[in-house]
Amino acid sequence: MGSPRSMTSLVALVLLATARAADGNATRTYLDSIARMVDGGVEGMDAALWASIEACMGDVDGGRLLAASDAAWRGLGHYDNPADPWGSCNASTGCKEYKEMNETTLDVSGVLVYEPCNTVSNAAYYRTAANLCGAASDMSRGDRDAVVAAVAHMAFGSSFWHGSHTRLGNVADNGLIQVIAYADYQVMVRHLVGGVYRRGNATRDRVLLSLSSSRDRPSAADAARGLTDLFLTRPADEWKDYIATIDVPDYFTTFAGVVLELLTLVAPNSPHLVDEVVQIGARAFNLSDAVVAFMTDELLPAQRAAVAELPSPLSALERAGLACKFVGTMLKLGYAFLWQEYFFPCIYGVATNDLGAAVMPMVNKVANLLTGFKHADADQQRCERVYAADDRCRKLDVAPHAKWHESSANGLLDLALLADDVHKLTSTKARAASPLGRFAAPFADGWAALFLAA
Ligand SMILES: *[C@@H]1O[C@H](CO)[C@@H](O)[C@H](O)[C@H]1NC(C)=O
Ligand SMILES: *[C@@H]1O[C@H](CO)[C@@H](O)[C@H](O)[C@H]1NC(C)=O
Ligand SMILES: *[C@@H]1O[C@H](CO)[C@@H](O)[C@H](O)[C@H]1NC(C)=O
Ligand SMILES: *[C@@H]1O[C@H](CO)[C@@H](O)[C@H](O)[C@H]1NC(C)=O
Ligand SMILES: *[C@@H]1O[C@H](CO)[C@@H](O)[C@H](O)[C@H]1NC(C)=O
Repeated sequence: MGSPRSMTSLVALVLLATARAADGNATRTYLDSIARMVDGGVEGMDAALWASIEACMGDVDGGRLLAASDAAWRGLGHYDNPADPWGSCNASTGCKEYKEMNETTLDVSGVLVYEPCNTVSNAAYYRTAANLCGAASDMSRGDRDAVVAAVAHMAFGSSFWHGSHTRLGNVADNGLIQVIAYADYQVMVRHLVGGVYRRGNATRDRVLLSLSSSRDRPSAADAARGLTDLFLTRPADEWKDYIATIDVPDYFTTFAGVVLELLTLVAPNSPHLVDEVVQIGARAFNLSDAVVAFMTDELLPAQRAAVAELPSPLSALERAGLACKFVGTMLKLGYAFLWQEYFFPCIYGVATNDLGAAVMPMVNKVANLLTGFKHADADQQRCERVYAADDRCRKLDVAPHAKWHESSANGLLDLALLADDVHKLTSTKARAASPLGRFAAPFADGWAALFLAA
């Protein structure tokens, strides 16, 4: 340790570095360059959209999300790992390949982008993050920060993957959606664990919260903050191993947790129906016996017991409302899956992609009538100006995956709002309200407004 003077300059240096790191410049520089790549007529991403993204990320985790995003994009720009060069994660090395293959060089740092439309369309996830920041929500600040950070990190991870075809990009794309699902799921069970309506029961709370029968996992908020720290403090060469071993439940288990939780709330008196859904899901997704056993023997009993212990059961109106929101959200996510490129490999041609682009706003409209969710960002729902060159990319026959990004970003927005709704429905305040009041409130500010506008 040196003299006070060198200490002072050290502090000044650190302050300077932090200030520079957290200004959003690197993120914006790359997002703008990606926008210019697909649309020569623009200077960058829509300025108002960027402003909302910057304000949102600057507000999460005390500004650390924005700083982490800058560090992540700088890491991408300088990623030069001989063991994982640009383009090396391809079919011959066991990675997925997408239809779009149109190598284009960014005008910043000479970064090569293999899939322009599949890269720029990730701006839809940043848009979802910003919309989540803007939405009125019942979640705690910590939960909201976790959900927003997970979505923002995935926006980066997916951009990295479709741009670079590196193993690191691949891991970042696949690994981060699980963090989003886990963050949403934890919001949904927040009021069902011990300490809210009952004394804690470590076994049951572990199953409910960690989706594990054997150990307590770090929370989704810890997982999201871990990623923020990773980008902020570690060099890009170390990101892959960290993300590949991040301790969150696998995607299927978490998604099953979400679906079973909703079904248990919507149909508490029809356990056989829910059991049947597990069997159907197990066959459809070829789930392992161990996963199915966890669902039937541990997760469902824990969820049922927790729902049965709510101080007042959900009224028929509340259950009907939740069912509509559930169906509307699944409609968007289901539509997104059509364009993922791997589940339905045979449907992609010029006409189907055109049709798919034309139908997307209609799907959103029907889904929004079902959910009643308020969306301040009308463009995202109408599929207009969602990202640069979206008109072209949305219809492009070689880029069905760009529709997956846009539609799933929209569906993930609703999934978070749905989780928030469950959080609100299971809160002490809602459980103490009169049955009429419990339905009237969401109807008045959600569905009614939509029907009037329709
Ligand atoms: C923003 O980032 C770009 C590219 O990294 C850099 O050239 C530019 O100097 C930065 N601007 C500021 C104000 O830091
Ligand atoms: C390839 O990418 C460039 C830049 O985004 C774009 O102008 C061009 O239309 C693309 N070509 C095809 C076939 O999509
Ligand atoms: C696929 O990756 C391998 C390994 O890096 C590389 O040698 C090969 O050229 C790549 N193929 C294409 C089509 O880019
Ligand atoms: C805790 O929950 C488990 C699983 O739901 C249950 O088997 C056990 O009896 C509970 N323990 C107590 C003390 O209630
Ligand atoms: C289902 O998963 C098992 C392993 O759990 C595997 O052996 C089997 O081939 C899979 N079946 C299909 C149709 O994918």
